[in-house]
Amino acid sequence: MLAVGSDHGGYELKIAVLEMLKERGVDCADFGTDGTDSVDYPDFAAKVAGAVSSGEAELGILICGTGIGMSISANKFTRVRAALVHDDFTAQMAREHNNANILVMGGRVLSIKQGKRLVEIWLDSDYEGGRHQNRVDKISAIEQQVIEH
Ligand code: RB5
Repeated sequence: MLAVGSDHGGYELKIAVLEMLKERGVDCADFGTDGTDSVDYPDFAAKVAGAVSSGEAELGILICGTGIGMSISANKFTRVRAALVHDDFTAQMAREHNNANILVMGGRVLSIKQGKRLVEIWLDSDYEGGRHQNRVDKISAIEQQVIEH
């Protein structure tokens, strides 16, 4: 399952992304927010990143105005690798090199068309593993050190 969440700054793009995901037959769920009233992005980052961290969701998408607040918040969760992407290249690398399990975008940075395109690129790319696995393992090792600290 793919968990999708936004604050008010990402709401419009989130609705367009959900529509596209449903058209593609992707099993997805809307974790809020439900409109354009002002809300706090960490609340929605926690819902989506919590679901990915626990295994309830395999993947997540988070959208706020810039994507910055969502990525900072989501990366506090263990097992989460949230990548803020801006263009085709970063969307592709987020999956191929970083095996990002949450895609983060800025709804005030990207057009609806660009945002939907970045989601498609991320979903259609494959993690390369190999030398990148060693690096991803090192991220997990840092996570473990922080837990034990
Ligand atoms: C909300 O105004 C805005 O701060 C938020 O959407 C996001 O850009 C934070 O990083």
